[in-house]
Amino acid sequence: MAPTDTGAPTPARQSEFAPAKINLTLHVTGRRADGYHLLDSLVVFADLGDRVAVAPDTGLSLTVTGPMAGGVPTGPDNLVLRAARLAGVTGAAITLDKHLPAAAGIGGGSSDAAATLRVLRDRLGVAMPAPLALGADVPVCLAARTARMRGIGENVEPVSGLPPLPAVLVNPGVSVATPDVFRRLSRRDGSAMDDIPAFADARACADWLRGQRNDLEAPARALAPGIGTVLTALGDSGAALVRMSGSGATCFGLFTDTATARQAAGQIAAANPGWWVRSTILGAAHHDPADQPIEL
Ligand code: C5P
Repeated sequence: MAPTDTGAPTPARQSEFAPAKINLTLHVTGRRADGYHLLDSLVVFADLGDRVAVAPDTGLSLTVTGPMAGGVPTGPDNLVLRAARLAGVTGAAITLDKHLPAAAGIGGGSSDAAATLRVLRDRLGVAMPAPLALGADVPVCLAARTARMRGIGENVEPVSGLPPLPAVLVNPGVSVATPDVFRRLSRRDGSAMDDIPAFADARACADWLRGQRNDLEAPARALAPGIGTVLTALGDSGAALVRMSGSGATCFGLFTDTATARQAAGQIAAANPGWWVRSTILGAAHHDPADQPIEL
């Protein structure tokens, strides 16, 4: 059936990729009076993620689709809707195509919120609100490129000199609450990350990373022992470096080449049918060609 021609232009549906965020390091260097922790973290983005699509509409609505849609809240607290409201948007039909596990340490919700703000700004001309109000990881997710993140997350400095890193991401299907992990930290005044050199290749990057840390790994492992099982499986699969991302429970293994990473992912997935296992490239450019440069 032909659509009725009202003479009005058809509202365009615009979409943005919301890549998985991986903390290659996460040093906790202090604590503010309000309880938030000071961090020093090297953050990279994967070539897999969610997608947020926005079409002008009379009211504000959210539909969640995709293989990981189950359990994602669709109410007003969803970060995508909070992002739209923070930007002053009252009319938009938003679709979130969910491929990343939620509450998993890879920035699912934060990256979705950041992609919402990007699509509103870059495609629909909406002014950008201060992103930190949506969560500490949202500023770095807004940049969506390799960066050093400091402060509680508001200080984002682009980093170059990292090679593309073949990796395997594994989530054992347990979710860990970020505040609980921070609460269990035994030390809150650790050293900052070393200065980041330029790396010849993925092996050199993995070697340097071994001297850095994720301070949230030990408290997260105490809360969810399954994280230790994942780290062991990644180590046994030949990864050059294994570590947890963010506050967990997703862990990553870095590999020196893509074929070995794919093979390891296949083996880990076959041996652990309940786990979410993906091979990916970290730090590779993933932006849609139409993306504007991100102002930090
Ligand atoms: O900002 P976001 O909602 O992601 O943070 C979730 C929780 O993690 C905060 O309520 C806080 O307990 C903890 N957090 C922290 N220091 C940070 C980031 C998060 O203590 N820099």
